[in-house]
Amino acid sequence: MNILVLGSGGREHTFAWKIAQSNHCNRLFVAPGNSGTVDIATNLNISVTDFEAIKDAVIKNNIDLVVVGPEDPLVKGIHDYFLQNEDLQGVSVIGPQRAAAELEGSKEFAKEFMKRHHIPTAAYQSFTKDNIEEGYRFLETLQPPYVLKADGLAAGKGVLIIKDIEEAKRELKNMLVDAKFGSASTKVVIEEFLDGIELSCFVLTDGKDYKILPTAKDYKRIGEGDTGLNTGGMGAISPVPFASNEFLDKIENQIVKPTVEGLKADDLPYVGFIFIGLIKVGDDPKVIEYNVRMGDPETEVVLPRLKNDLVEIFKAMSNQTLSEIELEIDNRAATTIMLVSGGYPEAYEKGKEIFGLEAVKDSIVFHAGAKSDNGKVVTSGGRVMAITSYGTNYEEAIKKSYQSIDLLCFDKMYYRKDIGFDL
Ligand code: AMP
Ligand code: GLY
Repeated sequence: MNILVLGSGGREHTFAWKIAQSNHCNRLFVAPGNSGTVDIATNLNISVTDFEAIKDAVIKNNIDLVVVGPEDPLVKGIHDYFLQNEDLQGVSVIGPQRAAAELEGSKEFAKEFMKRHHIPTAAYQSFTKDNIEEGYRFLETLQPPYVLKADGLAAGKGVLIIKDIEEAKRELKNMLVDAKFGSASTKVVIEEFLDGIELSCFVLTDGKDYKILPTAKDYKRIGEGDTGLNTGGMGAISPVPFASNEFLDKIENQIVKPTVEGLKADDLPYVGFIFIGLIKVGDDPKVIEYNVRMGDPETEVVLPRLKNDLVEIFKAMSNQTLSEIELEIDNRAATTIMLVSGGYPEAYEKGKEIFGLEAVKDSIVFHAGAKSDNGKVVTSGGRVMAITSYGTNYEEAIKKSYQSIDLLCFDKMYYRKDIGFDL
């Protein structure tokens, strides 16, 4: 098969790395890719939302399977585009159709879905500028801190957690009236604050059956001790040590099953990954959010633990024979630490040469915001590379990642030195 992966981050390098190990993969393409994917695939200089250009590349390169990394093209309907286009019949797409991608594209849609299917989540109400007064009154019925969420996609920045009621009201007005997050905040979901520890569950579905991948936990804040601004993710660990079998059973029975059944009942066509963001409140899991793709950097610890041939899994998903697949998971722990550009997630410089890559032997280096430039590898984004290691437990794996990081450097390189601190 010829395969195209869409995206340019560490997640997509990991997909390409895993797909490249498959006997079923003939030619592998990544669009637009990065300095990591260029070594194992052909990078195509195409934006993930330029559907016309993607179509041309798929036809020209006889591509049989497209794996969609990020949410943007899914929410914009790339899967529907393929189904509707005569020239693309027979090309499989991994990623849900637009109607189902609304689980990530609209927080309100996701909340209504959970309510309809009795999936445990925080209590909520949603508001527009027309009923902002009711929004103020709803805030007064809640205990602080207050959780305000822009309904639409806001590049991971659309959630505010605020301690002071007056500030919460001001921010509600900023979002609804002053378009703080553009059109993403014409509607705002206000929800009950859930106090607990977070983890994520990743599910594969062919629309009929499902398989659960290993759990992972990511570290979203820029600063040590989970402080400072939110980022795309600064590191991840799999499996999650506090997720006992009993707790995993609860996740499956109370959340995964009703989610997959709910998709069927609501006629939401889904072939792809479901990323369920969870919070453990007491002994019970509650859903914080759905994403319609894999997580980044969670992919960098989940896929390295999957022993199966990923292309066989993708084929089974496309043919709706996922039930015949038995997942085989590596018992070892995997961890990843993100190296980021100094200043990220605010302004940062690009174009810094990365040194020491060839010296790393005990970890896998997944490139993210990095590109090839005249034989050098230079930074091109905020999150630059993810350093993944295995260990008999997560402590050992983390230690290996930090030892590998000691071999790497670029100007103003930053990373968190406390990944796993809370476990
Ligand atoms: P989301 O984009 O919905 O994942 O939210 C971003 C982050 O905000 C989550 O990873 C949580 O840390 C936090 N968060 C979201 N909703 C809640 C909630 N209801 N209670 C507590 N924390 C929340
Ligand atoms: N690491 C969180 C995400 O991919 O959304």
